[in-house]
Parts: sequence; structure tokens; C-alpha cells
Amino acid sequence: EKVYGLLGHPIGHSMSPLIHNDAFLNVGIKANYQAFDVEPQMLGNAIKGIKALGIAGCNVTVPHKIAVMNFLDEVDEEAKLIGAVNTIVNQNGKLIGHNTDGRGYVQSLIEETNEEIINKRFLIIGAGGAARGVITALLRHGIEELTITNRTQDKIEPLLELANLFQTPASRATREEVERNLDGFDVLINTTSVGMSPRIEDSPLSLNNLRAGAIASDLIYNPLKTKFLKEAEERGGTSHTGIGMFVNQAALSFEHWTGIKPDHQRMRKLVL
Ligand code: ATR
Repeated sequence: EKVYGLLGHPIGHSMSPLIHNDAFLNVGIKANYQAFDVEPQMLGNAIKGIKALGIAGCNVTVPHKIAVMNFLDEVDEEAKLIGAVNTIVNQNGKLIGHNTDGRGYVQSLIEETNEEIINKRFLIIGAGGAARGVITALLRHGIEELTITNRTQDKIEPLLELANLFQTPASRATREEVERNLDGFDVLINTTSVGMSPRIEDSPLSLNNLRAGAIASDLIYNPLKTKFLKEAEERGGTSHTGIGMFVNQAALSFEHWTGIKPDHQRMRKLVL
């Protein structure tokens, strides 16, 4: 029986053991996926433990996604661009890092909105690690332009440089500018934690000037429909929740480990 795991701190709330154990069972692989609460100063030892114990693969979550890169043998191109790893594959003792968050998100956006996203005008709200994952995947997929807004404007700069690597026009804007010109965006993506339980009454932007038919997308899935998404719907927008990203990143990790594409609908039902 193979062992897989999640490294995070804290990890109590994670749904990953539930969906991965069910997926292993469902495809007929004898394996056990377990959450490990790893304190930041123990991360290097935990990674050595993966090798020593022959753990076959891991997910990595907050706060270890960036630091873990220092302890791996190899990091793939996408994870390097994002600057974070959420999936480790133990390939005969060699630990290889991947990042499935961004690709999982873009897959979900396309599947659930049924829209061709290439020619859309994107607004990214936030400039943290989650924003970087989403932006990297959008740029790799190919989009025409994006605007980034963040409470702390300085943090936007490295993301503009990232867009520059892909020769994609990108600009920054303040919250006030964005709110005034909101009708200039087709897809608005909230990558911040604003609106997450328990602070469900908060929204990252005022949506008074939303274009009818615009897509509002949130990485948050607890609550499933954030205030941001509810307000967008009230103004004639379409909403896209974070649940698909969570399911898809897990499914892509599972594929890295097993080569098998798990049943996404089954995973989704378990999480909802
Ligand atoms: P993550 O990896 O989840 O993106 P992060 O790197 O800490 O986490 O980034 C959190 C993002 O949410 C940032 O864009 C942050 O804005 P700042 O860069 O100004 O800190 C944003 N954020 C968090 N709380 C916020 C709040 N109350 N209002 C506005 N933005 C907030």
C-alpha cells in the first residue's frame, strides 16, 4: 500500500484526504492519503522523511508552498514561474515539484463558463501567491490583456514583469480606478481572501459599474457563493465559484501521481 500526504500548518480543515482516498478507492489503487501538520521549522525534516519513508507523493499547502522548493530535487517550469509548489512526486527517491493550482483554475473557468477566454479583458484582484498561480496559467493559456489591482500597489510590479515574459499587455490600477472603469472588464477574478468565512460580509470591490454579462470569479469556495459573486449576479453578471479550482488542482495532482484522470464529478460531490 502506497502512502500519500498533505503537508500544511494547520491542516485540520482540509478536504484533500477525503477526495484523494475516495479517488484511490474508485480507481482500484491501494493507497492511503493522510494530512500531516508540519510546523514551518520542521519542513526540511518532513521532506527528508518523505524520502526515508518512501512516501509516494504529497500535496503542499499554506504556509509551505514557497519554502518547500528549497528542499526538492527538481521543480517543473510552471511551478518555477509561479514560485510555488503544491504537488510533489516521489520518482524513485527523486522529489519533483509541480503546481496544479493555476491550471486547475483555468480549466474550471473554461469548463464552467463555457466561454472562450482568449479575447476577454481580465481584471485580477489581489497580488499574492494565489494571484501569481492564476496569472501564470492564464498567460500560458494565452490571453490578450490583463489589469491587476491590489491594496498594496508595490506587490503588483512582479506580476507585470511576469506578463512581460509572455509579451502580454498588463497594467496596474488602484481600486478607485477599477471601480470607476469596471465596465471595461469581461472577467473579474478575486484572488484575495476577502469574503472568506467567517468574514462573509466583505467584498473586494464595489460592483456598481459592472458590465451586464461580465463574469465574476472567486477562488474562495467557503462560502461557495461569496458576497462578491452574489453582487455580480444581482447586476446581471455570471458567477464562477472556487470549487472547480479546488477539485481540478486535486485531480491534476492525482494524475501526476498515478497517470490516471480521476472522476471530477465524484470529487466535486464529496466536497460540496
Ligand atoms: P495567497 O497566497 O492566498 O494569495 P497572500 O500571498 O498573503 O496569500 O496574498 C493575499 C492577497 O489578499 C493579497 O493581494 C492581499 O493584499 P495585500 O498585498 O495588500 O496584503 C489581499 N488581501 C488580504 N486581505 C485583504 C483585505 N482585507 N483587503 C484587501 N486585500 C486583502
